[in-house]
Amino acid sequence: MTSTRFHNLTIQAVRPQSGDATALRFAIPEDLKQTFSFIPGQYLTLMATIDGEEIRRSYSICSAHLDNFLEVGIRRVEGGRFSNHALSLKAGDTIPVMPPEGRFTAPLGGKHNYLLLAAGSGITPCLSIAKSVLESEEDSEITLVYGNRTAGSVMFLDDISDLKDRYTKRFSVIHMLSREQTEVPLFSGRLDGDHLHRLFERGVVDPELFDAAYICGPQPMIESVKDTLSHWELSPQNIKFELFGTFDTPPPAKARSEDAIDGAIVEIILDGSQKTIQMDASKQTVLAAAQQAGLDLPFSCAGGMCCTCRCKIVEGKAEMDLNYSLQDWEIEAGFTLACQSRPLTDNLVLDFDAS
Ligand code: FES
Repeated sequence: MTSTRFHNLTIQAVRPQSGDATALRFAIPEDLKQTFSFIPGQYLTLMATIDGEEIRRSYSICSAHLDNFLEVGIRRVEGGRFSNHALSLKAGDTIPVMPPEGRFTAPLGGKHNYLLLAAGSGITPCLSIAKSVLESEEDSEITLVYGNRTAGSVMFLDDISDLKDRYTKRFSVIHMLSREQTEVPLFSGRLDGDHLHRLFERGVVDPELFDAAYICGPQPMIESVKDTLSHWELSPQNIKFELFGTFDTPPPAKARSEDAIDGAIVEIILDGSQKTIQMDASKQTVLAAAQQAGLDLPFSCAGGMCCTCRCKIVEGKAEMDLNYSLQDWEIEAGFTLACQSRPLTDNLVLDFDAS
């Protein structure tokens, strides 16, 4: 089934990056400018048919809010079918792209002081936030702490240097390297909660300055950094995080409970209309069942990480196999991820239009 949620975009330029990565720059036709407008921190979902199979992957936007193009950063993942395909694309190729999504966002306007903490390809949404905030908010400040293995694996080094040159007083960056010695010993090592704690303790970074922190990297890094930020009394609602900038290798699901209902009736509300499917929760998720029934639900990673399939339970109960993106308050408010949900009641009503 071809999804109507995608638009064919042409690659305007390819900017190779160190660390076996690249940036794909898309031209946005005039009639799609509104559809593809974005809030810094959001991502695009790209689609390709590889060996006869339709594959989707999400990549964070790394361009600035005011740029007249959209750019995503992609690092090759060993064995990653999509990333290997994406790194073979060239200027002039077209690829189906879903409009921007995501809630790891820094809405523009006002004056802010943000701490951005990125590891590896997690730099992409942070770069967009840094560029956009510095360009659009003349009194705002950004501190970026960016962790990589080696100097040779740092993505977007030129873009970061350019920000340093342009915004000398409002942008500062600390590069941390885990497999190479740095000139400043404190900057050698992995970016994690302990290391961030040392940066705070020694006054290299002042945690009291920040309105909010944005974290993007692998899950262990996010968890430990979140703990440190909470310890230094940054309030939870001002700590935003996203699991990496790409979802090429979804983690394994947890074991399912035995309460999942076979033969459940699931009503789906989407784009103002209602459809009903019947499904066996022991065998498939709501997303898989809906796809099998020919419904065009929004999804990207199918791994509980991107939140594209977020919907609200308005009747009945469901459980998720895993969840790396919904926050506690969203679960309490009844939101779930269709790609991970299995009905626990005979009837389940899911509203994809609920915000
Ligand atoms: S499609 Fe990514 S969380 Fe469901």
